[in-house]
Amino acid sequence: MTENAAIESVSSPTAVLLRALAAIALVGILALGIGLGVRYLQASDPYTHEVLSLQGEQGRGQAIFQMNCAICHGLEAHGEVGPSLLQVSDRMSKVRLIQQVTSGRTPPMPQFQPEPQDMADLLAYLESL
Ligand code: HEC
Repeated sequence: MTENAAIESVSSPTAVLLRALAAIALVGILALGIGLGVRYLQASDPYTHEVLSLQGEQGRGQAIFQMNCAICHGLEAHGEVGPSLLQVSDRMSKVRLIQQVTSGRTPPMPQFQPEPQDMADLLAYLESL
């Protein structure tokens, strides 16, 4: 008798709903944790860390851009084969910009391996767009 009551209460619509909500909350918390962990790892990889610690020079960055990137993104970064990069720093964090340049994960954009100072200069230029 009491056992039946217990089973009934566990599978009542409210209990099912509560369990579903708890599951959703748990998945959310896990996803957030993983997301933050990945961000932390990215920002703490030695190359990214070094780039972020350097003072970038926008003028040098522009020269580097015109030699390496303008062929696809346009001389003024307005976009050609590659998308326009105007206001790109509103859409992408510094860490993501560094990854975009160094990862080669979005072909046809090639993978670049700039010296940390060159990458810092490039960042300063991208952030000025
Ligand atoms: C061979 C052509 C090519 C070259 C060279 C190139 N890119 Fe790209 N780039 C692309 C293409 C194509 C995309 C879009 C990739 C996608 O999202 O699928 C892209 C995407 C990007 C993005 C992301 C833009 C956004 O809004 O998502 C950034 C930032 C970027 N490139 C920066 C650079 C920089 C800096 C250089 C030079 C170091 C460079 N690219 C060189 C073709 C190129």
